[in-house]
Amino acid sequence: MQSIKVFAPATIANVVCGYDILGLAVNAPGDEVLMRLTEKQGIVINKITGDDGRLPTAAAKNTVSLSVQHYLAHIGKPDLGVEIELYKKMPIGSGLGSSSASTVAGLFAINNLMGNLLTAEELVPFAMKGEEMACGYGHADNVAPALMGGFVLVKSYDPLDLIRLPTPSGLHCAIVFPEVDVPTRDARNMIRSKVLLKDAVVQWGNIAGLVSGLFMSDLDLIGRSMKDILVEPVRSILIPDFYKMKEIALENGALGFGISGSGPSVFAFTRDEQTSHNITTKIQAHLTSLNITSQAYCSAVNTVGPKILD
Ligand code: HSE
Repeated sequence: MQSIKVFAPATIANVVCGYDILGLAVNAPGDEVLMRLTEKQGIVINKITGDDGRLPTAAAKNTVSLSVQHYLAHIGKPDLGVEIELYKKMPIGSGLGSSSASTVAGLFAINNLMGNLLTAEELVPFAMKGEEMACGYGHADNVAPALMGGFVLVKSYDPLDLIRLPTPSGLHCAIVFPEVDVPTRDARNMIRSKVLLKDAVVQWGNIAGLVSGLFMSDLDLIGRSMKDILVEPVRSILIPDFYKMKEIALENGALGFGISGSGPSVFAFTRDEQTSHNITTKIQAHLTSLNITSQAYCSAVNTVGPKILD
């Protein structure tokens, strides 16, 4: 019986000013999927751990099996027998691309078992089907970097046009997840659908500055481009003491700070691991003083995407 175990990484979507068009993968946390090919037709989720019973095990309702099913239909094997075990190693509803990490691990696993018929980039549309089910819109800014590694720009959705961006050496991420639940679906529904042209001009400047900073390895330019006047002012309401956490990060050497994906996780870019640790320690201490439990992750940018464990 053929089987494979795969790890897929968490992601920081939006990267502050790039709502739905920019994301990056980190080394930790992430999810693991064990997949086996079986004689019995159809996809079965045998086991999910680490989700406190929150995720559906019905194959049609789980993002992993759903996207694997789309993949199998695409390659002309819709009835293939597949057993899946999902090991959630990261928090759900955290803004760190939790559903994306699971889905991507599953897609990477099945593609490997099928002899790597598709490239990482070609797997992205199947992973977007999982996001569509999880939050109502098939955004690619988590699944594309989770599959492709590094920073990925969604240059357009129709047609899907994905651009790999360079990762400046030394760039480090400090992430804190305050343990309050913010479902992505809700966090998307609260954003205004119309923007003023003068605000769009500011946002365009920042996203262009951020992308330029990545190409130029200019960490100061990256930091001063990490400004979001469209989404952050609305979503920050859901995040406990967001602006105090930002102040702590910037006072302690962060290049820039913002919401990870749809939150409530927040992140800072820093110049080194030590600065990241210092920032997460101070932010966590602040959250503790508010009686809010939290989890922290310090990570370099993951430039490789998923990896095979066994
Ligand atoms: N771009 C998406 C959003 C990412 O902000 O809703 C969700 O993780």
